[in-house]
Amino acid sequence: MRRITAALGAAAMLSAAAVTAASAGAATTAARHNARHNTRTTYLDPHARTADRVDDLLGRMTLEEKIGQMDQIVDEKLRAPSNPSDGNCSGSNADPLQQACLQKVLISDRTGSILAGGTDNPTDNTGKGWADMYNAVQHYAIDHSRLHIPIIFGVDAVHGFGHPYQATLFPQSIGMGATWDTTLAHEAGAATRQQLVATGGNWDFAPVQDLARDNRWGRYYETWAEEPMLSGAMGAANIAGMQGSAGHPQVAATVKHFAGYSQSINGHDRGEEQLPIRYLQDTFLPSYAAGIDAGAATVMVNSGSINGVPATASHFLLTTELRQRLGFKGVVISDYGDVPALQSAYHVSADLADAVAKAVNAGVDMAMEPDNPSGWDAALLEDVHNGSVSVARIDQSVRRILALKFELGLFDHPYVDPSQADAAVTGNKPLARQAADESVTLLRNQNDVLPLSKDASKLVVTGPNADSMTNQLGGWSVSWQGAFGGGQACCAGPADQIPPGTTVLDGIKAAVSPSTQVVYTQDKSQAVSETSNADAAIVAVGETPYAEGLGDNPSPALTPDQQSLISALEATGKPVIVVVIAGRPLGLGPAEQANGLLMAYLPGTEGGAGVADVLFGTVNPSGKLPVTWPTDAPLQQSGFNAGGASTLGDEPKFFDQLPGTNSGWGSGYNPLYPFGFGLSYTTFKVSGLSASSSVSRHGSGTATFTVANTGARDGIDVVPVYVHQPTETAGIVVPPQRLVGFARVDVSAGQSKTVHVSFPASSLALTPADIDGTEVPQVMAGKYQVQVEDMSADFVIG
Ligand code: BGC
Repeated sequence: MRRITAALGAAAMLSAAAVTAASAGAATTAARHNARHNTRTTYLDPHARTADRVDDLLGRMTLEEKIGQMDQIVDEKLRAPSNPSDGNCSGSNADPLQQACLQKVLISDRTGSILAGGTDNPTDNTGKGWADMYNAVQHYAIDHSRLHIPIIFGVDAVHGFGHPYQATLFPQSIGMGATWDTTLAHEAGAATRQQLVATGGNWDFAPVQDLARDNRWGRYYETWAEEPMLSGAMGAANIAGMQGSAGHPQVAATVKHFAGYSQSINGHDRGEEQLPIRYLQDTFLPSYAAGIDAGAATVMVNSGSINGVPATASHFLLTTELRQRLGFKGVVISDYGDVPALQSAYHVSADLADAVAKAVNAGVDMAMEPDNPSGWDAALLEDVHNGSVSVARIDQSVRRILALKFELGLFDHPYVDPSQADAAVTGNKPLARQAADESVTLLRNQNDVLPLSKDASKLVVTGPNADSMTNQLGGWSVSWQGAFGGGQACCAGPADQIPPGTTVLDGIKAAVSPSTQVVYTQDKSQAVSETSNADAAIVAVGETPYAEGLGDNPSPALTPDQQSLISALEATGKPVIVVVIAGRPLGLGPAEQANGLLMAYLPGTEGGAGVADVLFGTVNPSGKLPVTWPTDAPLQQSGFNAGGASTLGDEPKFFDQLPGTNSGWGSGYNPLYPFGFGLSYTTFKVSGLSASSSVSRHGSGTATFTVANTGARDGIDVVPVYVHQPTETAGIVVPPQRLVGFARVDVSAGQSKTVHVSFPASSLALTPADIDGTEVPQVMAGKYQVQVEDMSADFVIG
């Protein structure tokens, strides 16, 4: 749990640049300069091998210096309203960097990493302001530390680098998941890298590889999908783009939150997770594993407890699963404050020293501590002295951390060029629009009401999300809870820091012909009376921003006001198009009957243009739900909720749920819209499925089929490839279908394309044995079936 501090208030400023100048001038002695440029010092030699540089540096470090490398401290601890003489800093993010605070955290406490988390923006919250701040902190660490070790600087760039307020932001991951476009995920990762490389964030706490299986959870929108294959494919591509060249990443990506973080028993963030090892291994770990296999440099630990053990203290999770079974070799960081939480929240440690020992011995390399560097130092030192943590274990972690710093090039080119930063954070707008275009998912199109004509004579635009950049960005945008703090009392941000971009209203106005009258109003009766003589009403509804536990919602639904507005518009008899801008499927109420229904997710700064592109047919929609949209209809039909007006979803609901013995009574897979659903303005016919008839356990199968565009418009079809197992002979219940691959096929009207989708047999692995199975998953021999739409093809795994 992060702290909640207001981000307001001006203070006497010592600018980042001033700190740089002062500190560099006072402390960069000729001797230090010589040491840094003495290429006979192996660790300072850019041409030496990373392993040799690490060995050399490690050999020169004291135990205290090693311990400091394993700590990450929030940048607020480098700040204070005025420079305290004792380095006792208690600044907020609005305070300037102070020399005494830098000295205390970076030099006296030898801290190896700084975090600028959700609310920790510099006063000058521009690309340049970030670059200046980063350079100032980095200069201080390098110039003043005995061995000139750079810090690694962590930020949360979860849909682009969302903090500088003019930044271009992509759709949140749930919208990116709806594109099913791994090339796009790669490009968005690369664009985020450009933003970070220019501003100094060399460690990105993204992507989230958790699965969206419970829409009550406030972090649902940070995930790609509800199931592991799509999530893994999108995450792997994103990581490759974000890190740049393998082996020498420009930015370190983070697979988080390892593992099973989304699975709290009641939809609340950071709670109790009861997760059978079979479910963990067969359903959740493959999503994280795909990111690890793509070369992710770091992993962040789940904040919750699993089966009664805090993940941060689980040797089984962080060493057996992560290192030994998944083969991860990089740096493991705890989540925010989770090491001290072993004492303060979980009460599995009597004191901080024991908490630190438990985390480090479980496999944590670095603690996102976040604000007590002296406490960390003392605790880990005590652990070494009393024998509860070995120096060998510390060396192992410090090696990983130093290797990452070397590979990122931080010893060789540690600073960024602030003059490039603003352009870098504001670039990539066409890519953000493409992402929005591809994500928008058409759920209902009664009588082909869409696309609307650009020459309509009158359109009414209304609803709380029609002209709200803040709402379409969601959390982790400018600030933790969203731009303007999401309007939440806890976390208000500067009101004037709303990123530029296009809202739905902007997009509509830009799309229509000059003769079209666009009436925008937030007044319900005016909206209704204007609609009565309009061609159509477009009503944008959904959610306001949130992040983490503040977004947990026991009953996610359109608000009563939104539902009443939609009902009133529908009563006019005119076409009503509902655009949902939200981080998750919501109970829709009357929106289920709207003539047109679009899910836009949280579409980013260019989201309004993306919505308009689909509304007016500039783009033929290709977005497909990466999650299931639950419904309460089965409950109503079965009499339990007869006549009730509730729009509560029948949740959790996901397509690969296991079959039971009472699926006729509402417990089967009966969503409002299934996983993978999304309409197009053209029609497709998929035919001619064939598949490899025999697949080895360590090999791959291939499905081949033809996608024909049978309509009048060019379009993109997304075709999921599932595997069905008629009988699982080892006695393990398997989902009726498991997603093993997909094709995203661009087909012109009247044309067809034949595609091949290959899938590794390992994606069908199951954990053997009875209810208590904890063994390594295995690919079971037997009969299987590839399923594509209504076709199937048998194959065996021998
Ligand atoms: C979140 C992480 C995030 C970290 C740093 C935590 O509260 O759980 O996902 O990376 O803060 O901001």
